[in-house]
Amino acid sequence: MPTTENTAARNAGKTGNAGKAGNTANVASAMKAPGVRVDGLTVVYRTPAGELPAVRGIDLELPAGTITGVVGESGSGKSTLALSLLNAVQPPGRISAGSVEIDGLGDVVKLSGEDLRKARGRHIGYVFQAAQNSLNPLKTVGKQLLDLGRSHEIEDLRGLVRDAKDLLGRMGMDGARVLDSHQHELSGGMRQRVGIMLALVLNAHLVVLDEPTTALDMITQANILRIVREVHAERGLTTLVITHDLGVVAEVADRLAVMYGGRLVEQGPTTDVLSAPRHPYTQGLLRAIPRLLGDIGEARALPGRPPTLGTVPARGCVFRERCALRMDVCETEEPPVVVRGPSITACHAVAAADAGVDTDTTAGTATAGADAVPDAAHPAETADAPESAGAGEPAGVQGTRGEQP
Ligand SMILES: Nc1ncnc2c1ncn2[C@@H]1O[C@H](COP(=O)(O)OP(=O)(O)OP(=O)(O)O)[C@@H](O)[C@H]1O
Ligand code: SF4
Ligand SMILES: [Mg+2]
Repeated sequence: MPTTENTAARNAGKTGNAGKAGNTANVASAMKAPGVRVDGLTVVYRTPAGELPAVRGIDLELPAGTITGVVGESGSGKSTLALSLLNAVQPPGRISAGSVEIDGLGDVVKLSGEDLRKARGRHIGYVFQAAQNSLNPLKTVGKQLLDLGRSHEIEDLRGLVRDAKDLLGRMGMDGARVLDSHQHELSGGMRQRVGIMLALVLNAHLVVLDEPTTALDMITQANILRIVREVHAERGLTTLVITHDLGVVAEVADRLAVMYGGRLVEQGPTTDVLSAPRHPYTQGLLRAIPRLLGDIGEARALPGRPPTLGTVPARGCVFRERCALRMDVCETEEPPVVVRGPSITACHAVAAADAGVDTDTTAGTATAGADAVPDAAHPAETADAPESAGAGEPAGVQGTRGEQP
């Protein structure tokens, strides 16, 4: 299709320049979707109480060519994780441990200066949270597009403008008019789509979208998600989508990662996680979603509140304050990582269930033999949530949006 051909042509011109700069391997590998491996990632923010982790010990793989969704309540560390993929965490934050290996770029945590600046935009496209507020109010969108192209040494600026118009047109806007506009002449939803265009227009093959559709109405959101999927497939991208909205994830993501208190508590193929959630937190999130059809009263908000930087437990399970399956071991020991097929869950109760051990939550012990297992058929009761509003029904997830899990 024209957009892909144009960007490919621009990149062909670019390869020559980059080769002179000694960066040939990076550019060559950026021509296909890169795999990404996040290993032991910890990010801390400096606070009056010292440096506290917002993201801790994250292991996450983004398989090449897939869309991964990251969900979790506000403050769970989603944006901090996204910024780490670009090595863009700003003071008072810093990546204190771990690595982010991107095929063709290496460990971005080790990149700095000009290498890092070039990696962003050219190799990693991103839409920051609240992208609708991040345009320069003094310049037209077109001028900012040209600035972006020049800063990345794009030779075919006409082709860049053509691609930008094409992307904007596909997102339901008059591309020429938008490029001639200043920020204040565009609605929040239009600015958000401009942000998505800027993330895609340099033809980066790793794209990170942080809450890309929050300012959009349902119809426009559906349209944008369709385009994200189309462009992802056409260009061969690896994409990370961060959202509060399980409906968005169900719509777009191949894989799903669930964050809580800076930890990754569950991950796996989206359909598996939504239809058979294993972690009590994921089960609680799914129960909290009102159904479009049926009894809206069945939805139950997860009781309690997520921890803040200052209250997140330094050891044991970060979810234990809200977990009905909590045991003594959850207070002190890191939840074990349980692998089942392509899915991973970090939970003592899930580990005990897989080992055929009954979890006696009232006594705070685990006993062998019985079957008090958190699984999709018998989702763990998270505090007082009713079983009837249970998880395991992805159809109830699809078609809903805007809920803050
Ligand atoms: N600049 C900062 N200084 C101190 N703490 C911060 C800073 N930025 C984020 N935090 C803290 O780090 C934690 C994770 O924040 P982050 O923005 O990554 O969460 P999030 O999951 O993206 O939330 P939201 O859904 O609201 O966007 C929160 O407790 C937040 O208060
Ligand atoms: S059972 Fe324990 S480890 Fe699992 S979510 Fe509950 S508190 Fe955390
Ligand atoms: Mg965020």
